[in-house]
Amino acid sequence: MIPLAPPALGREEIEALKAVIDSGWITMGERVLEFEKRFAQLHGAGSALAVDSCTAGLHLALSALGIGPGDEVLVPSLTFVATVNVAIYAQAVPVFVDVQSEDVPHISIADAQRKITPKTRAVIVMHYAGYLADMDAWRDFADRNSIALIEDAAHAPGVEGVGLKSDASAFSFFSNKNITTAEGGMVLARDPKVLERIKLMRSHGMTASTLDRHKGRAYSYDVMELGYNYRMDELRAAIGLVQLARLMEWNERRRSLTALYRSKLARIDGVRVPFGGWAKTAAHIMPVLLPQGVNRSAVIDEMRKRGVQTSVHYPPAHLFTYHSKRFPGVSLPLTERFCATELTLPLYPGLADGEVGLVATALEESLKAVR
Ligand SMILES: Cc1ncc(COP(=O)(O)O)c(C=O)c1O
Repeated sequence: MIPLAPPALGREEIEALKAVIDSGWITMGERVLEFEKRFAQLHGAGSALAVDSCTAGLHLALSALGIGPGDEVLVPSLTFVATVNVAIYAQAVPVFVDVQSEDVPHISIADAQRKITPKTRAVIVMHYAGYLADMDAWRDFADRNSIALIEDAAHAPGVEGVGLKSDASAFSFFSNKNITTAEGGMVLARDPKVLERIKLMRSHGMTASTLDRHKGRAYSYDVMELGYNYRMDELRAAIGLVQLARLMEWNERRRSLTALYRSKLARIDGVRVPFGGWAKTAAHIMPVLLPQGVNRSAVIDEMRKRGVQTSVHYPPAHLFTYHSKRFPGVSLPLTERFCATELTLPLYPGLADGEVGLVATALEESLKAVR
């Protein structure tokens, strides 16, 4: 079986975990600080904050930017549901925005502009499949409309410029991501005051950490505002430090596998690959569009029979039972069309060049089998 996106973990991660356990300190400490420092350096940011998931990071970003009850937040529907849910956590209203096109399935600036109201306070841009959205255009859009700009950068760690134009950005280290800590995330923010507020809210709004108290740097603490427990721990940071050192090399391998996929898939009639010619990408996943009218579930079954695991990124969020009941009447024609035919093929640094050919052949055969 060629899996979709297995994590790449090995001896170094085991050694790093062992060192944490031997140290006797497992909650947020020096390794978390080191992971934050190196992540920030790699992305050209002043500093970064580690959190226990990207979802938590996005929630903190909205909260620290003052998004709250009654505010509207522009969100994509072509995304993992977390991008939408964080607006609901903040007691704001998510306003779904269509994608630009099937070829560039990023949230559309034109549709976002149509959906601006006096209540709009923020937009969350998601770098679908790792392809960096046009952040200069989004910065201009946010400034023109006097709203906050947030990046859901779950798919795009290590891409030049990611996280630097927005007011805050959040990255994911979930097990299928470009680097993993099992669960985990990182936040960047360009205004140090916003980052400071995120830091406070990450740990119950407390003025001192457990480590400060352990080290005798503080004997008590105050709580400045409502916060959460969204902390990362030393075990995850230790894995993260090992993984981060490989990120750029792994991203390069992902881009080269993607280029190979594009050349192999070009021969299959009716199959399209979005983001042709897009240079800035972490090549997180390999989405393709099947011909209209093809039974996708049958293709997925045929691929499985041929030893290839596939997936769908994503079911449109505005059509989920919960979201369509709570926010009814939303229609996003381009997103709905994209989501109806999208299929995700295996992509990870350990995938062999020869396996890309096998997957392409399996797709060609599967399409023939279901037609
Ligand atoms: C686009 C996107 N946003 C947010 C998330 C949430 O990340 P996490 O699982 O780290 O909370 C994910 C990943 O699962 C994602 O793919």
